[in-house]
Amino acid sequence: MVPAGSDPSAAVCQGADVTAPDLDVVTRIDELRALLDRVRASGRRVGFVPTMGYLHEGHLSLMRAARAADEVVAVSIFVNPLQFAPQEDLASYPRDLERDLALCTSVGVEVVFAPPVEEMYPQPIATTVSVAGVSERMEGAARPTHFAGVATVVAKLFGIVGPCRAYFGEKDYQQLAVVRRMAADLSLPVEVVGCPIVREPDGLAMSSRNVYLDPEERAVAPVLHRALLEGASVVQAGERDGEVVAARMAEVITAEPLCRLDYAEVVDAATLQPCRRLVGEVRLLVAARLGTPRLLDNLGVRVPEG
Ligand code: PAF
Repeated sequence: MVPAGSDPSAAVCQGADVTAPDLDVVTRIDELRALLDRVRASGRRVGFVPTMGYLHEGHLSLMRAARAADEVVAVSIFVNPLQFAPQEDLASYPRDLERDLALCTSVGVEVVFAPPVEEMYPQPIATTVSVAGVSERMEGAARPTHFAGVATVVAKLFGIVGPCRAYFGEKDYQQLAVVRRMAADLSLPVEVVGCPIVREPDGLAMSSRNVYLDPEERAVAPVLHRALLEGASVVQAGERDGEVVAARMAEVITAEPLCRLDYAEVVDAATLQPCRRLVGEVRLLVAARLGTPRLLDNLGVRVPEG
């Protein structure tokens, strides 16, 4: 992908216009590491956005946040087999690298790391990272091997990219908590930045897997967001029992015949432990199956004092 004979670090290291449409696409670990080391050696900060591709406005908002805060933006595009269980959609996960590269260019990304699977996993992996506590409930219960797969690839990517600020969407709120905890526990030189969920006009949280929804399911999908808004309004109206709020959200989702509720939870925003008595910052989280895809959504609520 990189033009033959070109030095992929040159544009980013020599102070090129950061909005220039030049995009270096790197497929090898040693190449990316060397390129970003040279970027840092030239005094420029790296903003890193890890993705599995099939980019949408949610990903682009992370890239824009990185663009605003860091001098050089690097994006990884890698559909990580480790985080898919055998019955999940690894083979059919949507992919469109050419379109992704055009989108990266459109928001001023300089470097895309798009390794083949053999580059990331040249041999069956013997070392994995598992994060106790925050990864165990909700998505961790529904997909028992998922977060170890995520934590392992993100630890690898952080090791390859090196010191940086790394941007993750709050759409996968539990994933963000897992990554934060992993980076803190392992003293990785990465500042993890959480960015707000980006929604469609009808409230549906953007996700690459929304393409799996047929038109009827798509019309119903904003019910998750409506359930969260209902939960938040029950809290604003004075309810302080987390189980009552969770039950109200569950009712909204189960009233929709096409939806199969997986969970509706009210948790402490930092620990992700369920809160019975609501106080401070809480997070409302819901997951439901709608046809083939499982949809996730969440909302932060500051519980009014008194
Ligand atoms: O959120 C995702 O797209 C993935 O889980 C991540 C963080 C890129 C790891 O593969």
